[in-house]
Amino acid sequence: MGKNVGKDSEDYGKKWVKKDEERENVYWPTDRLKEKCHISDKEIYEKAKKDPHNFWSKKAKDMFDWFEDWDEVMEWNPPYFNWFLDSKTNLSYNCLDRHLKDKRNKAAIIWEPEPLEEEKRILTYQDLYRKVNKFANKLKELGVEKDDPVTFWMPMIPETAIAALACQRIGAWHSIVFTAFSPKAVKQRMEDAGSEILITVDGFYRRGKTIELKEQINETLDEIEAENCIVVQRAETNPSMDQERDHFYDELMNKSEEYCEPEPIDAEDTGFLLYTSGTTGKPKGIKHSCGAYGVQAALTMKWIFDIHENDVFFSTADIGWITGHSYSLYGPLALGATQIWYEGSPDYPKPDRLWKIIEENGVTQFYTAPTAIRALRKEGDGWVEKHDLKSLRILGSVGEPIDTSTWKWYFEKVGGGRCPIVDTYWQTETGGILLTSLPGVGPFVPGVAGPPLPGIGYDVLDATGEPVKEEESGEIVIDGPYFGPGMLRGIYKNPEKYEEEYFSEFGEEVYFSGDGGVKRELEIGGQNLIEVTGRIDDVLEVAGHRLGSAEIEDAIDNLDEIMESAVVGKPHDVKGEVPAVFAVLKQGETGSDELRDKIVKIVREEVGPVATPYAAYFVTDLPKTESGKIIRRFLKGLVRDEELGDMTTASNPSCLSELAEKVGYNG
Ligand code: WTA
Repeated sequence: MGKNVGKDSEDYGKKWVKKDEERENVYWPTDRLKEKCHISDKEIYEKAKKDPHNFWSKKAKDMFDWFEDWDEVMEWNPPYFNWFLDSKTNLSYNCLDRHLKDKRNKAAIIWEPEPLEEEKRILTYQDLYRKVNKFANKLKELGVEKDDPVTFWMPMIPETAIAALACQRIGAWHSIVFTAFSPKAVKQRMEDAGSEILITVDGFYRRGKTIELKEQINETLDEIEAENCIVVQRAETNPSMDQERDHFYDELMNKSEEYCEPEPIDAEDTGFLLYTSGTTGKPKGIKHSCGAYGVQAALTMKWIFDIHENDVFFSTADIGWITGHSYSLYGPLALGATQIWYEGSPDYPKPDRLWKIIEENGVTQFYTAPTAIRALRKEGDGWVEKHDLKSLRILGSVGEPIDTSTWKWYFEKVGGGRCPIVDTYWQTETGGILLTSLPGVGPFVPGVAGPPLPGIGYDVLDATGEPVKEEESGEIVIDGPYFGPGMLRGIYKNPEKYEEEYFSEFGEEVYFSGDGGVKRELEIGGQNLIEVTGRIDDVLEVAGHRLGSAEIEDAIDNLDEIMESAVVGKPHDVKGEVPAVFAVLKQGETGSDELRDKIVKIVREEVGPVATPYAAYFVTDLPKTESGKIIRRFLKGLVRDEELGDMTTASNPSCLSELAEKVGYNG
């Protein structure tokens, strides 16, 4: 594709949004955008609200092909629910087979490798279909069956999509681990899932370096006595291979049958596991369904990113996170869309890499996290101004609250003041986007995600469980049973945790998100817009990546010098927040830079580079309740320079003055 793809299109470079003449910081879709969009009438909210079950039932029929229809749309036994009961479908079929009729030669994935000297690879729907079928047959030959968990430690290369779809084809569950987690994190997830097979790469490229994965994971594979490991050769390293256990992907694919019948799978059967951090303990295996999840991924993709036949969608989300699953894999492919996959770092070799990709491929919808926008903005406007980004029609933001200044820069500099920003709020647990303004309906307000998607029952509650008034803040919840069909179906092997973590705060009919929000006065279709203010529990959002304080603390507490530790998120101008450690030393130990280095090292080894601590404070005591629970609220207040509030809950408030001094608290 040439440099100026998009220029011939009638849409090229035209305005899609207009400013609200009466209100500061509020934007609306232009008539042109409304005409273009799949959804442009705010009545959709009312309609969906009247009969949400019927709404989802219709959408499920529109979005997916079903091998067998359902008897009942939804069943609700709080806090458990099922959608599309007894129906049968297959995600891989919906992402591939049904597109062959009219999209056989359409690009499904345009893959941009990190090294500039390497050519991009384009996989058509036909290419992807053939490869997925072959790989699915190979998985079967290796003994993988329906409902077997298959762990991936894979970067953004096409083979990751191929392998994931192959799992779907045979009804196996993938459990994809982010590449910036450590081998120990892979081990923990394989053990929890009881997974006997790993799919990984020899290595891949990131910021010009080769990150070798296979060599790093060999010891783990021995320890857990894995049965099989499939290795995609990406970086031409020469990893050591175990003759019996390890197989090169290319060799497997060379001799494989061409067709694999897609397994008819219950809409409610597990589609995949994805481990995520909670408030306590180890990461939990969030269990997602197959067909029901797929419906929400596809519908949100179509409505929120307003996907049309010739669009080129580009999400920068890594496949190791839920955004990568729903909007770099299943959503786009279910719609038969063309999308970009990029292997590497947004600033490599220069800070204009993403803008270059957008320009060269004529990207129409671009989806990224505020942390990436902040980092690229810091490099100066020149990098983005150098590129012609007029092909863009819609911009998306996800993963953390976007501050007004970053929103405006994104809007003006990247979108040229022409494109709506869909600020999409959701979670690993929800499977698909829940809060956002729809591009053809609006409004778009900096820092405010938007109303709930039609068919979703959101609210903001105060501590007593009553809905807050307009312009008041509280806790974001979903009123059962109006969860979208994409909602989690449990925590793998841990139903107690599911009930405790999500359905105990406000009773078993209300899903508690762990996020705080403000119910804004502005409404659309009878729905108030919601401003998401961020986590109110012990989960951190580091550069848009979700981490649990407990996992990092567990790693640090392994050090002989440390008696106990507490980790909280400290504000950071690019990453949003970063882990800050408060550590109480054992008697006779002294805090030193060497010990700080040790803390960093052990966190990187146990959790992964993604969790690297930015600050470590050595203190003599931590604020605790009478029953000995650490009061993180104080620690957060200290690192954020905020009011600490009521101290009567602390049994030892005197320790706070030492902590305040250590962090330089002025609040
Ligand atoms: C945060 C990522 C504000 C939130 C999809 C949530 C957001 C957590 C937004 C889930 C947004 C996600 N505005 N905060 N638009 N989107 N979050 O599971 O705190 O990796 O609970 O899913 O990210 O992170 P997760």
